Amino acid sequence: DSEEMISITFVGKDGEEKDIKVPVGMSMLEAAHENDIELEGKVWKIPPVPSFCNEISLILCFYVMSGACEGSLACSTCHVIVMDMEYYNKLEDPADEENDMLDLAFGLTETSRLGCQVIAKPELNGMRLAIPAATRNFAVDGYVPKPH
Ligand code: FES
Repeated sequence: DSEEMISITFVGKDGEEKDIKVPVGMSMLEAAHENDIELEGKVWKIPPVPSFCNEISLILCFYVMSGACEGSLACSTCHVIVMDMEYYNKLEDPADEENDMLDLAFGLTETSRLGCQVIAKPELNGMRLAIPAATRNFAVDGYVPKPH
């Protein structure tokens, strides 16, 4: 049923929680945007420079990339941390491209995913997602910092 909605909680930078309803089939990136939740993850390392950067300055290019790629797996600013292993294990395995991008994300954990690749489905009802900056102050079930 494509009209079905699930509940998702985003835990923000200061630990404030926002419960939202997300239609099945929508990505967590889109859901965050629609509800004025800013993901804006920091980029840990400069990603491989795409070809369009040849024409313009690297600084401008980096700015464009960190402005989020709208789900095309070319940034890592949509980084979210799944707060419960139980839910993490219900997600499809990340593609190689997603893992490559996650390696560039700041504050990577064992339950990190890119929000643009996490699509709402009924089994995810009740999932809690931390925006990475929040994890410094709040215990996350299953949180395992991943060395770079
Ligand atoms: Fe760029 Fe998800 S929005 S990788």
